[in-house]
Amino acid sequence: MLCVNLISAFSLLWVGGWCLDLKFPPGFQFGAATSAYQVEGAWNVSDKGENIWDSMLHSNPSLISDGMNGDVSCDSYHQWRTDVQMAHNLGLHFYRFSVSWSRILPTGFPNRISEDGAKYYNKLIDGLLKKGIEPVVTLYHFDLPQSIQTLGGWTNPLIADWFADYARIVFRLYADRVKTWITINEPLIMCDHIYNLGNVVPMVHEEELGPFLCNKNVLLAHAKAWRIYDEDFKPQYNGKLSIANNPIWLDPASEKDEELTELAREFGAGRYSDPIYSAEGGWPPSIEKIMAEYSKKQGYPYSRLPSFTDEEKKLIQGTYDFYSLNHYTARLVREAHKNETPGPWFVAGSKELNAVLEIDPTWAYTDLSYLAVAPKGIRRQIKWLKDRYNNVSILITENGFATRDPDLYDTGRINFIRDYLKEILLAIKEDGANVIGYTVWSLMDNFEWMFGYSLKFGLYSVDFKDPQRLREPRASAFFYSSVIKHHSLDIPHSSHQYHHLKRKNLIQDKTSATSRIRVNCELMLIYTLSLAYILVKTMH
Ligand code: NOJ
Repeated sequence: MLCVNLISAFSLLWVGGWCLDLKFPPGFQFGAATSAYQVEGAWNVSDKGENIWDSMLHSNPSLISDGMNGDVSCDSYHQWRTDVQMAHNLGLHFYRFSVSWSRILPTGFPNRISEDGAKYYNKLIDGLLKKGIEPVVTLYHFDLPQSIQTLGGWTNPLIADWFADYARIVFRLYADRVKTWITINEPLIMCDHIYNLGNVVPMVHEEELGPFLCNKNVLLAHAKAWRIYDEDFKPQYNGKLSIANNPIWLDPASEKDEELTELAREFGAGRYSDPIYSAEGGWPPSIEKIMAEYSKKQGYPYSRLPSFTDEEKKLIQGTYDFYSLNHYTARLVREAHKNETPGPWFVAGSKELNAVLEIDPTWAYTDLSYLAVAPKGIRRQIKWLKDRYNNVSILITENGFATRDPDLYDTGRINFIRDYLKEILLAIKEDGANVIGYTVWSLMDNFEWMFGYSLKFGLYSVDFKDPQRLREPRASAFFYSSVIKHHSLDIPHSSHQYHHLKRKNLIQDKTSATSRIRVNCELMLIYTLSLAYILVKTMH
């Protein structure tokens, strides 16, 4: 009996991830990501048009904490061969990058296609394919043509057609070689975060209608692009498309906050996913109701969350081939206290839900304070998506760790990637989720939006003072390439490979990142068996 109990305790620890088969499923793919404005530079090369970052940062340089902009950045426009080589050295299966709308369409509209712009991505795509690396291409990653922003940007309903025009042109140019597409990156940032806070380019602060108009228009734009591909390109090229959503995982602060927390998940993840992935289509009904009631209380004769016509609902529903998930962090949700005004959605709270979002003080911080480290959140987020959307296959299209320290010996990043990958393995092996791949943000340090070059996410460091923008692998690059090579978190002790990178007197890991999990597992087995043996012996 005792033995049986011990064995079950052991299995529980196994299930709890303390002891886990560290191999990734066959076919699981590893990648790394960047985006056009963050790495390309060459802001005015040839006939490229201005995007919102070009124009805003040229007229207001002090907006960025280090006074910089993306004019040159990593200079990937000229140095794409080095980027491809880095991806190759890492052993990546795919490289996710984005196409710059205003590089392809200098006016933002389809009246003129830039030959040089089109050539640039041809070279990059061909260069990757030559090395056996799959290009994963995002059509839109925060860099709206200024001409379209002038016309209201993502709050103008016509943007859905303008985006569809652009998407069709990009498909025409590259669909023969690109098989995985992301239409739009992180609409929760583009709509909810930016319009609620107004502190990120395009610096429009309008909390009432902005987030919701943008939300609806993004979904329509995505759906139109998906349908164009589905009808005119899929039959020939058989690629797959998704939109990259980036919900923060939400846990209740206490038992009594459970219902509110689920509502908050629907307000974030649900509002951007249900219309595409749910069996019913349309907004989450709970959110539709709350928004209608709240808007009425505010005196609006209609809901601030715009409704869908039946036709729009049908247009959007089912426009996916997989779920593209960008994931970084988590929050605890609690009801706001009396007289407490919740902070802005989607990092601090929601007035509409009367909910406050907090960081658990036990979670480790990164140098980007709102990205607290909470690896268990990714497993729970994956499980939530799996249960809600009929076991949809999930590609993790971003996950990464920020530091201010440019040091090459980045054990913090290694631990982060290892801990998140471990939770992803648990999601696959214990929860039965269909996760098909993982992407590190980022291949290299780059222009981190309002933080400029002060924050580093790179597996490779980039020297932004060097005219050549010298790239060097960090310890995390050696670690990640070893994980890819072994297709497992169980990798040989590898710290010697990057020991030479240790510049500072950092506390060194005694065991390699992943062998610790394996040692746990082996020790657990030995303890359990010895205990069982002793007990059986004493009973006789
Ligand atoms: C998500 C965004 O897609 C990317 O552009 C950004 O650099 C990272 N998060 C890190 O903040």
